[in-house]
Amino acid sequence: MAATTSLLFPLLLLLLLPLSQATTFVITNNCSQTIWPAATPYGGGVELLPSQNWTITTNTTNSTSGIIWARTNCTFDSSGNGTCLSGDCSGALNCTSRPSSPVTVVEYSLYQWGNNDFYDISLTDGFNLPVAITPTGPGNCSAVKCTGNISGECLPELRAAGGCKSACDVYKTDEYCCNKVGSCSPTKYSRFFKSFCPNAYSYAMDDPTSTFTCTSGGDYRVTFCP
Ligand SMILES: *[C@@H]1O[C@H](CO)[C@@H](O)[C@H](O)[C@H]1NC(C)=O
Ligand SMILES: *[C@@H]1O[C@H](CO)[C@@H](O)[C@H](O)[C@H]1NC(C)=O
Ligand SMILES: *[C@@H]1O[C@H](CO)[C@@H](O)[C@H](O)[C@H]1NC(C)=O
Ligand SMILES: *[C@@H]1O[C@H](CO)[C@@H](O)[C@H](O)[C@H]1NC(C)=O
Ligand SMILES: *[C@@H]1O[C@H](CO)[C@@H](O)[C@H](O)[C@H]1NC(C)=O
Ligand SMILES: *[C@@H]1O[C@H](CO)[C@@H](O)[C@H](O)[C@H]1NC(C)=O
Ligand SMILES: *[C@@H]1O[C@H](CO)[C@@H](O)[C@H](O)[C@H]1NC(C)=O
Ligand SMILES: *[C@@H]1O[C@H](CO)[C@@H](O)[C@H](O)[C@H]1NC(C)=O
Ligand SMILES: *[C@@H]1O[C@H](CO)[C@@H](O)[C@H](O)[C@H]1NC(C)=O
Repeated sequence: MAATTSLLFPLLLLLLLPLSQATTFVITNNCSQTIWPAATPYGGGVELLPSQNWTITTNTTNSTSGIIWARTNCTFDSSGNGTCLSGDCSGALNCTSRPSSPVTVVEYSLYQWGNNDFYDISLTDGFNLPVAITPTGPGNCSAVKCTGNISGECLPELRAAGGCKSACDVYKTDEYCCNKVGSCSPTKYSRFFKSFCPNAYSYAMDDPTSTFTCTSGGDYRVTFCP
């Protein structure tokens, strides 16, 4: 009896171990041009040629969150110092700060209450590249995709180098930035973004149609230009 238990216990532990691993994001450049994807606080940033992958891993199974985006038309010197047309993070190749707008941002929150991951695509800082995030673990979790010619079709007043800015970034008003709690609704500008990407955040309070969830423990694929 006791022998069986002491044999079973390590076996059970081995079975449970894979459930408590850090989360991996495989980031793929499916664009026809080179991009410089970036991620904080896990990852930093790299140059990624077409069809190459970059894998980043979180270092904890505690509740944590982060963002992933891509930069375009960058030049860096040998010390990793430079500039990008869009998505720049204070000139560093290996990002530790948030990107400048316009930029399409993938957001994730892992191991939240009830063992849930939350993930979304946010256009609240505008749009620079199409992107998709796809859960690859077990379970029936939805992929989220934002594609469409948003840069090309951008409203003239939001147009910017490398993409299309959000109204919040251009006008910085409480209405567009949802700065006043409980008083924020769609505007013609958020509707413009929503018309291209119905599953992405088009303004800060756009939760019902824009936030997705999956049981924690699985990994993700992030594809630029899906
Ligand atoms: C995990 O990564 C974060 C962000 O890179 C870092 O601040 C933290 O010190 C790391 N923790 C451990 C235990 O390595
Ligand atoms: C990028 O910065 C992170 C810390 O944010 C560090 O762990 C990593 O080694 C750096 N990568 C390179 C290539 O320097
Ligand atoms: C990149 O990742 C994708 C999806 O995970 C995989 O199908 C592909 O083989 C990988 N490509 C390379 C060059 O490793
Ligand atoms: C996870 O959280 C616990 C309690 O807050 C903390 O003691 C531990 O260091 C954290 N682990 C990591 C890997 O961050
Ligand atoms: C950005 O890079 C792309 C691809 O290399 C190129 O076609 C485009 O002209 C560049 N845009 C600017 C403003 O330099
Ligand atoms: C990057 O450039 C800035 C301004 O030219 C300089 O102050 C900084 O030391 C450089 N950083 C590195 C890592 O070379
Ligand atoms: C998976 O989820 C989709 C939509 O959330 C639903 O339509 C489908 O029936 C689900 N499939 C299974 C096998 O549960
Ligand atoms: C995107 O929109 C612009 C402006 O309407 C147009 O010139 C361009 O051909 C479009 N690109 C694609 C791929 O549809
Ligand atoms: C990559 O882009 C091509 C179109 O250029 C598309 O057909 C394909 O489905 C994309 N692959 C992924 C994994 O999104």
